[in-house]
Amino acid sequence: MADPDSAPDARAVPDGGTAEGDPTVAAVFDAVAATAPEIRAALPGRRVESGTENASGESVLAGDLYADELLGEAITAIDGVGSFVSEEREAAVDAGGEVGSGADDAYAVAIDPLDGSSNLRSNNAMGTVVGVYDAPLPASGRDLVAAGYVLYGPITTMVVADEAGVREEVIERDGDGVERSVVETELTLPDTPTVYGFGGRVPDWPADFRAYARAVEDELKLRYGGAMVGDVNQVLTYGGVFAYPALRSAPAGKLRLQFEANPIAYVVERAGGASSDGAGSLLDVEPEALHQRTPLYVGNEALIERLEAALDAD
Ligand code: AHG
Ligand code: MN
Ligand code: MN
Ligand code: MN
Repeated sequence: MADPDSAPDARAVPDGGTAEGDPTVAAVFDAVAATAPEIRAALPGRRVESGTENASGESVLAGDLYADELLGEAITAIDGVGSFVSEEREAAVDAGGEVGSGADDAYAVAIDPLDGSSNLRSNNAMGTVVGVYDAPLPASGRDLVAAGYVLYGPITTMVVADEAGVREEVIERDGDGVERSVVETELTLPDTPTVYGFGGRVPDWPADFRAYARAVEDELKLRYGGAMVGDVNQVLTYGGVFAYPALRSAPAGKLRLQFEANPIAYVVERAGGASSDGAGSLLDVEPEALHQRTPLYVGNEALIERLEAALDAD
């Protein structure tokens, strides 16, 4: 385990790049907002398995593919987007333009088109996750200039984090367009934690995480819905901790770094919370492969520090 004291200031708020008011970043989230009602409207007819597997070896639903297609088309059409990565595509898609951190370089966009798609059959919350990087992928979370997610809950919301902070919008169909109303301009994690949600099965949790979970269970209320976006939104709303931990059967955990963990860590850290892969901020995890997995722990800083101490105990 890396010694947390030697790691870069893991609790430093992401530096966020030069995204504030960046027209390409705005265009990415415009595209995500514009497709959200179409994705939502298409879900009832796309609950079936597509019969294919993705790069993570997961079965893919028709809804996953539809969301991926719609978002891929909209995002790759944006001038300042140079490459596009998706949970549902093996390799990056060249969208034209050199990706880098130079002033007129293009951005790389990574998405999880439909997060929590196993909730489609049970009609529970799902989402879309987006990360905008100013570096070719796979990239470090420190290369994110903006990140966010759409939550298909009882209402459709979009949370966007960038250099300016974290805001929340309600997205509604308006004729054949969308109406976006900003409902929160400075989304921050409440100081007092209330909820927790931990993925995986208890017997598959390593002993050190199990001990941590036991303590948290005595203090907070269980809120686990099976879709990272919905569960993280609970933590952002009520304070607490969400984890998909390292498992005995899967020490690298389940969630993917580029299009799940990095964007979510960026949002939570910009909202005043903390993230960890068990040793330090998720934004400092070394990028190796587009679909690499990582353990994910996000929430109030004190709860994440306790988690890291618990995993470091042995
Ligand atoms: P996805 O549907 O994009 O593959 O992501 C599913 C992930 C994440 O949304 C959630 O936190 C986790 O899988 C739930 O896993 P379990 O079904 O094992 O609880
Ligand atoms: Mn999947
Ligand atoms: Mn997902
Ligand atoms: Mn997905």
